[in-house]
Amino acid sequence: MRISITDIKQKKSKSEKIVVVTAYDYSTAKICDTSGIEMILVGDSAGMVMLGYDSTIPVTVDEMLVFCKGVVNGSKNSLIVADMPFGSYQSDLSLAFSNAIKFIKLGCSAIKVEGGRGVVPLVKHLTQNGIPVMGHIGLKPQTSPLWEGYKVQGKSCNTAVDLFLDALELEKAGAFSIVLEMVTSEIAEKISQGVSIPTIGIGSGNKCDGQVLVLHDLLGLYDVIKPKFAKRYAESYSLFSTAITNYISDVKSGGFPDPQHSFSMSKEELQNFENYLSSLKAGKKGDGEK
Ligand code: KIV
Repeated sequence: MRISITDIKQKKSKSEKIVVVTAYDYSTAKICDTSGIEMILVGDSAGMVMLGYDSTIPVTVDEMLVFCKGVVNGSKNSLIVADMPFGSYQSDLSLAFSNAIKFIKLGCSAIKVEGGRGVVPLVKHLTQNGIPVMGHIGLKPQTSPLWEGYKVQGKSCNTAVDLFLDALELEKAGAFSIVLEMVTSEIAEKISQGVSIPTIGIGSGNKCDGQVLVLHDLLGLYDVIKPKFAKRYAESYSLFSTAITNYISDVKSGGFPDPQHSFSMSKEELQNFENYLSSLKAGKKGDGEK
């Protein structure tokens, strides 16, 4: 049984931290799931770490559906949230619903949209029609690069008020949880105290109800951008690179595959085969002589 939206909401009332990570494929989803991750976010960060885009802006619904399929197939327990890509939910409510439902039918439990009070009608529409929604305020990777760039949010009283009101309105609209990205720790704490739904922080201090990291940051696999908040729990880039370099040199030297990684036949069957080859040779000779 997968963890439910209700389970996630209850964790806040029990003051139990919620651990979230992104994943985009079967194999890593399986590792996250079996390690005890409660919620997997199939983030549109996939565009950067899986497809090599400069930002999340170009990501499409079709691309996200493939990533989600792998994650659904690779996990049994984690609650899966699909990130709605830029352009798939802003224009009108029925298009947003028909895009969102594709993720739910695939096996995801919820979707995530970026934005504060501007997306409240959308959040109401989706939740009233049965689709659980996670909000995302603070730094919004789908639009921030177009406007002010990647900047810490909530440094002034005015911006803090905006964030606080956004969070309250998202909760009222029916969001089950809200991501707070790169929000000052002080304001992330106030927001977390001000709403009854769990806040999931990324670069927003340790007073949020849960934390999310991009898997490739956590594993040290992506080094195009290294955000200050992204703690690397492994250095997988160099680990993988060493393994691949060793493979190259083993193949070049003939050291791989060794007997341990190869298959053999019995001596007797080999002898039979060699006899067969000799008989073929002998037959050919005979023909030539005729
Ligand atoms: O796409 C993503 O990975 C995200 C997280 C940064 C929260 O939205």
